[in-house]
Amino acid sequence: MSEADATGDGTGGRKQVWIEKYRPDGLDEVVGHEDIIGRIRSYVEQDDIPHLMFAGPAGVGKTATSVSIAKEIYGDDWRENFLELNASDQRGIDVVRDRIKNFARSSFGGYDYRIIFLDEADALTSDAQSALRRTMEQFSNNTRFILSCNYSSKIIDPIQSRCAVFRFSPLSDEAVAEQVRYIAGEEGIEYTEDGVDALVYAADGDMRKAINALQAASVMGDAVDEETVYAITSTARPEEVEAMVTDALDGDFVAARAKLDELITERGLAGGDIIDQIHRSAWEFELDEQAAVRLLDRLGEADYRITTGANERVQLEALLASLALE
Ligand SMILES: Nc1ncnc2c1ncn2[C@@H]1O[C@H](COP(=O)(O)OP(=O)(O)OP(=O)(O)O)[C@@H](O)[C@H]1O
Ligand SMILES: [Mg+2]
Repeated sequence: MSEADATGDGTGGRKQVWIEKYRPDGLDEVVGHEDIIGRIRSYVEQDDIPHLMFAGPAGVGKTATSVSIAKEIYGDDWRENFLELNASDQRGIDVVRDRIKNFARSSFGGYDYRIIFLDEADALTSDAQSALRRTMEQFSNNTRFILSCNYSSKIIDPIQSRCAVFRFSPLSDEAVAEQVRYIAGEEGIEYTEDGVDALVYAADGDMRKAINALQAASVMGDAVDEETVYAITSTARPEEVEAMVTDALDGDFVAARAKLDELITERGLAGGDIIDQIHRSAWEFELDEQAAVRLLDRLGEADYRITTGANERVQLEALLASLALE
């Protein structure tokens, strides 16, 4: 998108968004996902890719891998041969279908097929997916689809069975740390080891989040450290979450509630994020099994209620209260 200024003179480079600047340029720049990349590389080498489906959480490289495939197959011509569409386009599946048709019918610059990348495919209703399936069949002689989604279970079976399905998992801590260090090095940013650890923890496997947080923290001036990262990402330290839960389990509701208040009011954390953080660390709190089971049970309840629209703060207080009761 903004590659033109990637070579910038230092001032331009600083302003540029790093997730774009460091978007992988080829399959060997995609970190993690070794098995997936290996299999995809063999498709590319045989110049024969099937329809592909990439399922997985946000910011792990589904789009980056797709663009890398196009760059490897088409080189400098990749833009003409790669159509990126978003399935949740508000104008609907008909618009998406028309664009696919035009793209598949326009003249080809010497390649056997073109690639259509359809983002957020799981946002399509099953009727729209059926329409998409017919479109895939209609143009299967000269197009390959790459469907990207968070949940493959939301994609109808007839489409799944036409695709080679790849499940992208959250990136490992090592993969995130490695990329963060690499970018910090390229940008001449100083960082502390606890700063990298905090970025890895806050990102929770999401590379986009890690890179954005690194960039935001780097603007603050000093070396990127733990404190800056937790502040910028509105993340509680794992110890703080543990202290709050332990207070509640020890029956000290007042203290637990004060800690919750501090996180929400003073630090601006979202209730849903606090729930996620408790969930991530629940097994690391060294609770006895009984307490851990009770915590997870209540957590499920609060999570569900918040997802369906209940007041986050009320739910979190109720969670702490019920832990304190027994
Ligand atoms: N595996 C990876 N290796 C290197 N960089 C990555 C990787 N995953 C993500 N990134 C970085 O994060 C940015 C966003 O990644 P990408 O757009 O591929 O995510 P995605 O999986 O498509 O997420 P979404 O589901 O939100 O669309 C990339 O531009 C790149 O800078
Ligand atoms: Mg994407």
